[in-house]
Amino acid sequence: MFEVLKPLPPDAILGINELFSRDRDSNKVDLSVGVYQDEGGLTPVPKAVRLAEQQVIQAQTTKTYVAIAGNAEFNHQMELQLFGSSHRALCDGRISTVQTPGGSGGLSVAAEIICRAQPDTKIWLSDPTWPNHKPLLSLPGLKLQQYPYYDYVNHKINFEKMVSTMKTLGSGDVVVLHGCCHNPCGADLSPDQWGILAELFGQRGITPLIDLAYQGLSEGLEEDVYGIRLMAESLPEMIVVASCSKNFGLYRERVGAISIVLKDTKQAAATLSNTSNIARGIYSMPPDHGAAIVASIFCEEELRKLWIQELGEMRERINGLRRLLVDKLSEREPPQDFSFIANERGMFSFLGISRSQVIRLREEFHVYLVESSRINVAGINRSNVDYVSDAIVGVL
Ligand code: LMR
Repeated sequence: MFEVLKPLPPDAILGINELFSRDRDSNKVDLSVGVYQDEGGLTPVPKAVRLAEQQVIQAQTTKTYVAIAGNAEFNHQMELQLFGSSHRALCDGRISTVQTPGGSGGLSVAAEIICRAQPDTKIWLSDPTWPNHKPLLSLPGLKLQQYPYYDYVNHKINFEKMVSTMKTLGSGDVVVLHGCCHNPCGADLSPDQWGILAELFGQRGITPLIDLAYQGLSEGLEEDVYGIRLMAESLPEMIVVASCSKNFGLYRERVGAISIVLKDTKQAAATLSNTSNIARGIYSMPPDHGAAIVASIFCEEELRKLWIQELGEMRERINGLRRLLVDKLSEREPPQDFSFIANERGMFSFLGISRSQVIRLREEFHVYLVESSRINVAGINRSNVDYVSDAIVGVL
């Protein structure tokens, strides 16, 4: 039966990373896959994670199953982290949370629960968005649509166009928003823009699905959930999918969660039984290790402080690299302006160069980025920034 299957092209992001791994050139630079790298080009395990991991292993007496909904303490702490301990929806018991295998697992569960509740839902993705949103949110019945988001010419959000599209939507529509550090463009909604959208979504009955894969890597832990807390304050229903891959450096442990805000506690309980049932039907239950580490960091004051400090260092480093790259590029007097990179946030920005220039960067200079011209800013360091800047200006 498998003769019908034809080989597919490599993954748009991970495929580039594989090409990088095979390259033997000593100058090669990886700006492709969205993993944090330190000055030495390594993706470190944060100290807080190492310490928590030792405690988890020492305290563990069994490897029996945890639960379909995962680690209860992790789920509770994620709710506190996302919504804040005094948030009305949390105090009212209107949030239902299930631990998932990474944010991607959370997006899959989100698609299933939307489909179960309302099979003909239109799910609106930003143009552009993370390429994996599409397969993760595609289910028979659900209709994927795109709304305008990034203005590639002026390097900012085209908010007017975005709002005019939102004005044509209504109840039955789900809009996927990036909580912070937009992937791939790095252009985030301002507090005022979140406010306008929250009001519009309330008037029109639109349900937000907020993908939060980078909490703490834009402006700060609290600042980065401004939009989530605001929307959960004013809207009766919303979905949040969070990942702990990047902010805890737990990529391969697959730690994430889906939290759904509901109208009342009865609906929250009914939804929790459905998300649990969906999880059981896809992967039975999530892996334990990473969530146990996160729970122990959240619950121990010293570990938590250490993690917040390490997260702050990652954020500052990325923001510093943005400014450094802009300075290095402008010293070379390029024919196009790159100053917008310093105003964007998180790991990603588009360089705004053509696909053929991206390929030249790879083939002539061994600098690897996604073909859309998305760079992972965290792949730059003080030793390679001059080389990368020369290469970029060299292909313009
Ligand atoms: C990325 O966008 O590079 C990361 O989120 C990794 C991935 O899985 O695509």
